[in-house]
Amino acid sequence: MHYTRRDAFKVGLFGSAALALPLQRAASAKSVLDDRMPSSKLPKPFTLPFRVPPVATPVSVHDGEDCYRITMKEAKAEILPGYQTTIWAYDGILPGPTIVVKQGQTTKVRFINKLPLKHPVLKYTPWTSVHLHGSASLPQFDGYASDITYPGEYKDYIYPNLQPARTLWYHDHGVHHTAENVSMGMIGQYHLHDDRELALPIPKGEFDVPLLISDCTFTKTGEFLFDTGGETGMYGDVILVNGTPWPAMKVKRRKYRFRVLNACVSRSYEYSLSTGDAFTVIGTDAGLMPYPQSVKKMRHIMAERYEIVIDFAKYKPGTRIVLQNTNPKNNINYPNIDKIMAFDVTDEPFDTSNNEIPASLYPDNPVMNLQPGQSVATRRLELVRKHGMWTINGHTWDDVVASNFTLVVGKPAKDTVEIWELVNKSGGWQHPLHIHLVDLKILDRNGKPPFAYEKGPKDVVYLGENEALRVIMRFDGCGKYMVHCHNLVHEDHDMMQQYEVVDATPGDDPLGWRSKSDSGEADDPL
Ligand code: C2O
Ligand code: CU
Ligand code: CU
Repeated sequence: MHYTRRDAFKVGLFGSAALALPLQRAASAKSVLDDRMPSSKLPKPFTLPFRVPPVATPVSVHDGEDCYRITMKEAKAEILPGYQTTIWAYDGILPGPTIVVKQGQTTKVRFINKLPLKHPVLKYTPWTSVHLHGSASLPQFDGYASDITYPGEYKDYIYPNLQPARTLWYHDHGVHHTAENVSMGMIGQYHLHDDRELALPIPKGEFDVPLLISDCTFTKTGEFLFDTGGETGMYGDVILVNGTPWPAMKVKRRKYRFRVLNACVSRSYEYSLSTGDAFTVIGTDAGLMPYPQSVKKMRHIMAERYEIVIDFAKYKPGTRIVLQNTNPKNNINYPNIDKIMAFDVTDEPFDTSNNEIPASLYPDNPVMNLQPGQSVATRRLELVRKHGMWTINGHTWDDVVASNFTLVVGKPAKDTVEIWELVNKSGGWQHPLHIHLVDLKILDRNGKPPFAYEKGPKDVVYLGENEALRVIMRFDGCGKYMVHCHNLVHEDHDMMQQYEVVDATPGDDPLGWRSKSDSGEADDPL
């Protein structure tokens, strides 16, 4: 079964057609929120223990290739003490298992869709597409939104892992339902290591810690509550770190490296430590920065990854340090949204190796050495709301589907360098703009240099209110790739376009490697 434009209209009640019915939406949104679990019944911040997602185990390891089998399924999770919440998640856990790989080793991941035929509340059919965000995957393995896998089907994704070390993440990308699928729990991290990074004396092992930050809202019975605010965004009143509300983590008196991912559907953050002390950013979306950057405050929009080092050495045992959020404007605020998690300093003994931040990390990163003079073309992408629809240059993903996937924002030639101007003229919205395939460097933000913490390789940028960014990148790949807003509600309705990297021989078709029926899965060796 293939996804068609007719399907887009069929699912219109929860998709783009809903925008034509603002009154009905507003009415239903009100009744939905009436069922919200009162703030007084939510856990108090820092009362629940911090935990780290498990590392995935390969089902087989061949020469140069690790194979994994991950099932997308419904499960119950005790997120709020005493309540069982229905989640949809990779292997049934929120967040999904962390995949850890070394550069040069290919991974093949079989993602099996065992989700129910209908969403418990919203009633749509959960087709999925899995995107490994941060990977230069071939088009047919990139989680192209319209390359969908239905319940009862599976698809094998192949990841080359040839890029420099970085923090990636995998998440759902199914057309028109990414926001709901991701908010049900379909997120996980993926760590790529390389020799350069492993040789640095930066924190490793138990001191290299994933932080997947998400937000959600619960009904009075402890189920997830869905309110997209008239297709503008989903802003929860509970902050989860690795699936736990406002956890407290015991830390030793040394440096920790946190791989911080904003996995929220719509919420952006501004972090600081309650001590007022600085912390050090060592990595951005696409890996290590050339040089570490010390900051006291930083913004963090959806899908960005920042690797930050916090040094707890100088704090007395018993000290509590809170990671705070000063809530950038145009997010919806609730009590305790100004807190993320706490670090409780202990006097436990610790391993003193890899407890440094070298003065330079990856100065010869090719992306960070790109210069404007190398650019052969400049393109402009304007993110605008038009007739109630979210668009890029006035177009939606439905337009791409209607064009039989020929509509593109541009056709860069393979291996060339371009500058893209990303423009948000609105004062009321912020957009995380993500370009698939590439690692990019921010040249400037409103004509000024990027923030210190952005001086590293990126693949998604914080395009705040009335901001214009120039980014530079090399198109090292071939074929069609998406470019979209990573506020998943905007993405679903329908702020997503594609570009095509062209070469003498055409790139692979993103729809050219379809899912298979689950019934033969057991006989299909990995
Ligand atoms: Cu993380 Cu196209 O997405
Ligand atoms: Cu991506
Ligand atoms: Cu947006």
